[in-house]
Amino acid sequence: MKILVTGGSGFLGSHIADALSNAGYEVTIFDIRKSPYLRQDQKMIVGDILDQECLDKIVKGQDVVYHFAGIADIDECASRPVDTAKYNILGTVQLLEACRKVDIKRFVFASSSYVYSDSGSFYAASKQACETFIENFSKLYDLKYTCLRYGSLYGQRADDRNSIYRLIKQAVQDGKIVYRGTGEEVREFIHVQDAAQISVAILQPEFENQHIILTGAEKMRYIDLLEMIREMLGTKIEIEVLPSERKAHYKITPYNFSPKLGRKMVNNPHIDMGQGLLQCMAEVYEKVHIKKHKEMGLFVNGKNNE
Ligand SMILES: NC(=O)c1ccc[n+]([C@@H]2O[C@H](COP(=O)([O-])OP(=O)(O)OC[C@H]3O[C@@H](n4cnc5c(N)ncnc54)[C@H](O)[C@@H]3O)[C@@H](O)[C@H]2O)c1
Repeated sequence: MKILVTGGSGFLGSHIADALSNAGYEVTIFDIRKSPYLRQDQKMIVGDILDQECLDKIVKGQDVVYHFAGIADIDECASRPVDTAKYNILGTVQLLEACRKVDIKRFVFASSSYVYSDSGSFYAASKQACETFIENFSKLYDLKYTCLRYGSLYGQRADDRNSIYRLIKQAVQDGKIVYRGTGEEVREFIHVQDAAQISVAILQPEFENQHIILTGAEKMRYIDLLEMIREMLGTKIEIEVLPSERKAHYKITPYNFSPKLGRKMVNNPHIDMGQGLLQCMAEVYEKVHIKKHKEMGLFVNGKNNE
């Protein structure tokens, strides 16, 4: 079966692409930039989600489309409403148009647990609009779909837009974590590889035309996460908790009552939080130290001269 993954060069999309390849699917990645994680058994097409002609071409011959391209950062969406509407909403509608003209068996959409939340501003608004367009494409053209509402993800390949990545980076780089909030904020973190595995499992027929919530198995307060990072790094990490002025994020739950409830799925067995954090620490440590060595002139021809 052939599967197109838009946004497959990014954090979540690249893990989805790998999980699909591991499950034996023929994967093509479509993204505005070449994937740094591209495998030999995956194809890459570089292009823009706003280019309708290109979208019409690339969906031909595909069986399933996973749509993960767009602006993924809540704060970026809050400061760029027009681009959010363009890339997240218009881009999705153009891709749906391309899909309904050919025989796509499932349209899988990267939604968010923020979708019907009072938090999340334009990001949540764009996810709501996309889910509504998808449901209507399904009604009008019988385009089958699954909307995956992801919770708080963490894991390798993340960057500064990811909260756990930022906290670990501060700890490793500066020996100090400055956290903005009360520390009482609660999240059900899910490892990106667990999320990717569930995202493949939903290709089963029972998940057709469903909204699925993907979050971690356990609730965790940020203050406990900070302590866990400090303990795991085993060094004297200073933790400072300062008030936050950000409005776009939720405190305890992103869920507000809405008539469009999703079905919650938790991967079992899941990657243990401690194990997942250790992987992130190793990745951040390597990046920070390569950067330091480069700055200090100790890193020559890819080899450490120390
Ligand atoms: N990371 C999370 O915690 C999380 C949580 C919930 C939902 N999601 C959703 O999952 C999806 C992927 O998120 P991510 O964290 O991997 O973000 P990401 O920024 O790492 O990936 C997005 C990808 O889209 C590509 N892209 C951007 N504009 C494009 C365009 N015009 N044409 C083609 N490609 C374009 C980018 O190059 C990037 O590779 C997003 O829709 C996001 O809202 C992510």
